[in-house]
Amino acid sequence: MKVNILKDYEEMSLATSQLIIEVMKENPDGLYCFAGGDTPVKTLQLLVEAHQKKIIDLTKAYYIELDEWVGLKQDNTGSCLSYLNRNLFAPAAVPQSHIHHFDSLSSHLDEECQKANEYIEKHGSLTLVLLGIGENGHLGFNEPGVDFDNKAHVISLSSTTQSVGQKYFQEEMVLKEGITLGIRQLMESEVMVVIANGVKKQNAVRKILQGEVTHMCPVTIINEHKNSYLFIDELAGGQNENFN
Ligand code: PGA
Repeated sequence: MKVNILKDYEEMSLATSQLIIEVMKENPDGLYCFAGGDTPVKTLQLLVEAHQKKIIDLTKAYYIELDEWVGLKQDNTGSCLSYLNRNLFAPAAVPQSHIHHFDSLSSHLDEECQKANEYIEKHGSLTLVLLGIGENGHLGFNEPGVDFDNKAHVISLSSTTQSVGQKYFQEEMVLKEGITLGIRQLMESEVMVVIANGVKKQNAVRKILQGEVTHMCPVTIINEHKNSYLFIDELAGGQNENFN
C-alpha cells in the first residue's frame, strides 16, 4: 500500500484524480467502480474536467455500481446511482450501455447480486476501484464482521451506517439493508484506491496504518492488496504516530 498524506481535501482529491487519470489513459475501456458519498465528489469533478479537456475519455470506460441502499427508488437523490449520474455519468455523457447498477427495489436481490458478479466476470476483473471509508471502517457496504470471501451480497447495515447515511437524504429514511460488491471482488481489482478526509475518519485510518487486517474494520484489507493507494488529508491522518 502506498500512503499519500495531503494537506487538505482539495489536494487529496487532486492527487487521487491524477492517479486515476493515468490508469484510465492506460486502460481506457477498463471496468471502473467509483464509490458514492461525500469524499469522492471533488475527485469525480476533476475526472469530468479531464474528460472535457480531452485528457481522458470517460465514455469509453465501463462502470459498475459499488453499492446501493435496499428498497430505494433510483431517482431518489440520496441513492448511489443518482449520485453517480449527477457527478459523473451525466456530465460526461457516459452511455447507459456502459453502466451496470443494482436494482435495489427488485424482489430477487440474489439475482441482482448474480448479475453484478457476472458483469465483473465478463470483463475479467475490475480495473480500478475508488473507495471511501465509513466511520466504522466499512468499504462499500461491507460492514464490520463481513466475510472477506463474499462476492456481491445483501447485508444488514450497522447502526452507524444507518445513522450516518441520513446525511444523504432530505428527509429521515429507514436504511436497514444494503446491496454491495464483496471484498473479494474489490481485492481482485487491478488497482485499489481508498480516500478519506476529516477527523471522523481518523480511527479507521489509524487502524489501516497499524497494519493489522481485521474483519472488524474491513478497510484494513487494503494492506493485503498488491497495488493499493491510500490518499488522506492531514485531518484524517492526524492521530497516527506514523504521521508527520
Ligand atoms: P462519505 O462516505 O464519503 O460520505 O464519508 C464514505 C462511506 O461511507 O463509505
